[in-house]
Amino acid sequence: MNISKANRTTILKGAAIIKSGELVAFPTETVYGLGADGLNPIAVAKIFEVKRRPSFNPLILHIAKKSDLAKFTYYKDTRIDKLIDSFWPGPLTLVLPKKNIVPDIVTSGNETVAIRMPNHKVALDLIKQSGVPIAAPSANKFGNLSPTDATHVYKSLGESIELIIDGGKCNVGLESTIIEVRDKEIILLRPGGLSKEEIENSVGKIKIRRILKAKPNSPGQLPYHYSPSVPLYFLNSTSANKFRSSIVGVIYFKKVNANYSFSNFKVLSPKGDLRVAAANLFKFLHEFENKKVDVILVEPIKEKGLGLAIMDRLKKGSKKYSH
Ligand code: TXA
Ligand code: MG
Repeated sequence: MNISKANRTTILKGAAIIKSGELVAFPTETVYGLGADGLNPIAVAKIFEVKRRPSFNPLILHIAKKSDLAKFTYYKDTRIDKLIDSFWPGPLTLVLPKKNIVPDIVTSGNETVAIRMPNHKVALDLIKQSGVPIAAPSANKFGNLSPTDATHVYKSLGESIELIIDGGKCNVGLESTIIEVRDKEIILLRPGGLSKEEIENSVGKIKIRRILKAKPNSPGQLPYHYSPSVPLYFLNSTSANKFRSSIVGVIYFKKVNANYSFSNFKVLSPKGDLRVAAANLFKFLHEFENKKVDVILVEPIKEKGLGLAIMDRLKKGSKKYSH
């Protein structure tokens, strides 16, 4: 078994594996990452192999010190200082012009690189002990549900990697918010664990990019992503009727919706707290996937605050099944 509880010994072992050019799965506050030495192109190539990820998807570099941002990117912008002072370490990824030291395989040939400093002791220790920035996508096969605990990683990647460091449940539970900071504007590339509203309170209006491109900058922009292996649909009168006699797992937001009541259900947050809902989202989808229900029906919520990222994941997760 390749899952080991996080402690000093496993972190040192993980760092040695990273330094030797191999992969380690590790916890962050958002989701588990599948990490490699971000300055070693061959190590990074192994991520694409193990994930079976299309190679046009660039990766995020994870750093352990704010000052490392300047090692890998060019920026002279007070908005960036403000963002990293307010939100790092945390679920915010910045896309900025890259320096030459960053290998092309990390950025898929883009002139920009995505960087974040995770808010998780184990992740930060692993990066420090490795002595390199760690390139890491979510630790799951491409297109599957994101992993928010070590067993989810094992379910998707099994023994294909040497070590999965178990740091328990991710308390944000949604991937980081990704923004590109340009001279004249800030663009939201992927909604995530830090709300758009919180960012705007700090640096003013940001734009949402909706255009789908053949070669997207962010797989967040691909039509199918984050899908459970059982069909996922939004809960509404059509789906409720259609699946009345199937084995259904229902996810409600705050409480059972009396218009569509089912007996096998989970509630994301009885208090209606979006943070709690976000932290439970992938967990509940994994649980219903493990139980092999015929179909998962999930109640839609308002696209405000973290609701934007929650609905983004659910729309993409259900897209594959809705035609
Ligand atoms: O919370 C997270 O962000 C997690 C944890 C492990 O840190 N990581 C994660 O990585 O979600 P991944 O690979 O699943 O998603 C990274 C996203 C992709 O959508 C990718 O296209 C985008 O970051 N990205 C990376 N570099 C980019 C760049 N230069 N320009 C635009 N988007 C970029
Ligand atoms: Mg992912």
